[in-house]
Formats: sequence, C-alpha cells, structure tokens
Amino acid sequence: MSVLVTGGAGYIGSHMVLELLDAGEQPVVLDNLSTGFRWAVPEGVPLIIGDFGDQALVDQVIADHGVTAIIHFAAKIVVPESVADPLSYYENNTAKARNLIACAVKGGVKHFIFSSTAAVYGEPKANPVTENEPLAPVSPYGRSKLMVEWMLEDVSRAHDFKHVVLRYFNVAGADPKGRTGQSTPNATHLIKVAVQTALGHRKDMEVFGTDYPTPDGSCLRDYIQVSDLVRAHMDALRYLRKGGESLTCNCGYERGYSVLDVINVVKKVSGVDFRVKLSGRRPGDPAAIVAGNARVREKLGWKPLFDDLSQIVTQALNWERRLHNRQNQESGKKE
Ligand code: UFG
Repeated sequence: MSVLVTGGAGYIGSHMVLELLDAGEQPVVLDNLSTGFRWAVPEGVPLIIGDFGDQALVDQVIADHGVTAIIHFAAKIVVPESVADPLSYYENNTAKARNLIACAVKGGVKHFIFSSTAAVYGEPKANPVTENEPLAPVSPYGRSKLMVEWMLEDVSRAHDFKHVVLRYFNVAGADPKGRTGQSTPNATHLIKVAVQTALGHRKDMEVFGTDYPTPDGSCLRDYIQVSDLVRAHMDALRYLRKGGESLTCNCGYERGYSVLDVINVVKKVSGVDFRVKLSGRRPGDPAAIVAGNARVREKLGWKPLFDDLSQIVTQALNWERRLHNRQNQESGKKE
C-alpha cells in the first residue's frame, strides 16, 4: 500500500515525501526532474523519472507499487509564463492531469489530493476569502488548475473515488530539520528573492507596486510555511481514508503581510540592510489575498505549527545557505 507523489522531487513534493516517511507511509515519487532534483528524494524512496501524463507509465506504477492514494503536485506554476504560453499550461496542468485521474479511476485508486491555488479566486472582493467565494481566475495558470478541480468533482460523482482539493496561498520556508527547501533555479517568489538578496546572491531586488489600496501600498499575501502545508495533505489523506466526502479547502494562516513587511523581516532576521528598488506593478498581481481557513481546521483538524514570519524567513535563509554550499561543491567537482 503506497502513496504516489507526483512532483515529489520538487519544493513542496519533497516536503510531502518527508512527511509521509515520518508518518510511517510508503511514498513513491513520479517526477520528470524538469524543476525537481534527484537528491531531494530520500534514499530508499522509489523515484520513477517520467511524466505523470504518460498513462502506460502511471498504470504500471500503480500496479507495481500497490498505489492506494495519489497526491498530485507536479505542475507548471509561473503565472506570467502562463500568460505568455497558455497552451503549455493547459497541456501540462490540465490535459495531463486528466490522464492521471483516468489512471486513478482505471487502477482503482480511490483517494486523490490535488494542489490547487489561491489564483482560482482572481482578485477577491473581500478578505479573508472563503471557499464559497466566486471563482474568477485571471491567469491561464489559475484557469488550468480550476479545470482540474472541476474534473475531480465530476469524477467523484461518477466513480468510487474521493478527492481533496487544497488551494494554496503563498508557500514559503523550508523543512525545520533542514532536509529540503525551495531549490528551483531562477525562482521568482518574494521570500526566496529577498533571502537571496540578503545573502548577496543578488545585488538588489524590486518591490512591484507601492500604490495598491493596502495599508502601506504594497501587496498583501498570506504566507504559509511549507511543512504546515504538507501536513494539511496528511490530514486530508487520513480524512479520506476514514470515509470523508470530497472536499475543497484553502490553506493559509488567515493573516496578511505586505511585501514591505516581508522585506523588513528578512532584513531584521538576516541583519543585512540590502538594496530594494521601488518599481511599478507586476501585471496580474491581486492587491490583497488572504485565506479564510475555518474549513481546513474544522474538516481536516489542521493545526498550524509555524505561523511565524520570522521563523519562516529563518528557515528560508538557512536553506538558501545550504543550497549555495551544495551548488559550490558541485561546481567544484565539475572543474
Ligand atoms: N514581489 C515583489 N518582488 C519580487 C517578487 C515578488 O515585490 O521580487 C511581490 C509580488 O509582486 C507580489 C508578492 O511579492 O505582490 C508575492 O509574490 P510571489 O511571486 O511570491 O507570489 P504570488 O502572490 O504572485 O503567487 C502566489 C503563488 C501562485 C499563485 C498566486 C495567486 O505562488 O502560485 O499566489 O495569487 F498563483
């Protein structure tokens, strides 16, 4: 009895694999290593290098490993890229997810947990945003994920199959034990960029927009620590195994920080007063989006452990240092 983790060599997926191992589960990773890393998969965990849209491969993995649940992380996640190249998002995030769900139904996998996104809400009318708010994604990325939510609803009605959709807000931080973290090259996420700037890996950074209708004019976001996020998946898995009905939950702390707040915390925790340029708005950014989290707490019994921005930033800094040392060692070996 094993749990298939697509994208298990990536940022959030690699934290999920650790969480599953810590809980005594048997994870199996399927990852094409396009943004993930072989080293991010712990020794002893089967890693199948391939595509989650490859139905023959997935059928084989389900049969060979006795897969009883799928946690589906693998996806393209860069919003501006989705605007420039929507078809690749609909292919990767939507069409291939359809194939994966088809394999689950065919292979008798009854439990499916899906990584969705706050981007399905677009620009919410009020914050915190609850799961019942209108869904109005403004990017192909958000739409590519919302279509999968709809497929899952239909498939749950038609087959002996139950799912949990988790809508992530802004995921940040790293494993508190330092075993994995955000390693994607050229990442664009705020905390990663700020931490890289503090460590001198970038010479400066930009704040995209200071004229939003928010208290300090910069965008407000809800930053959720990655281990807390993956624990919501573990809670979802237990919920489904206990016979829970299909469900959609936001994942966030119900607390907003502005871009300038985040930068100040990174400066304080790192002790480095790095250079910040105030720039114009980045296309597609909602002014403010904060998760209403009553449902994930009530239905899944989720309890956050790391709801502390300084701690999240400390973890991100520690991971960035380790990653930098690893990269230096690897480039040393090649020379
Ligand atoms: N930002 C900066 N400078 C940077 C990077 C980011 O000012 O160098 C700002 C952004 O403009 C935004 C905020 O910091 O206001 C957060 O930006 P991120 O790129 O870290 O995250 P997003 O809020 O854009 O994206 C997140 C998820 C997406 C999801 C989206 C939905 O990562 O997957 O929320 O709103 F689609």
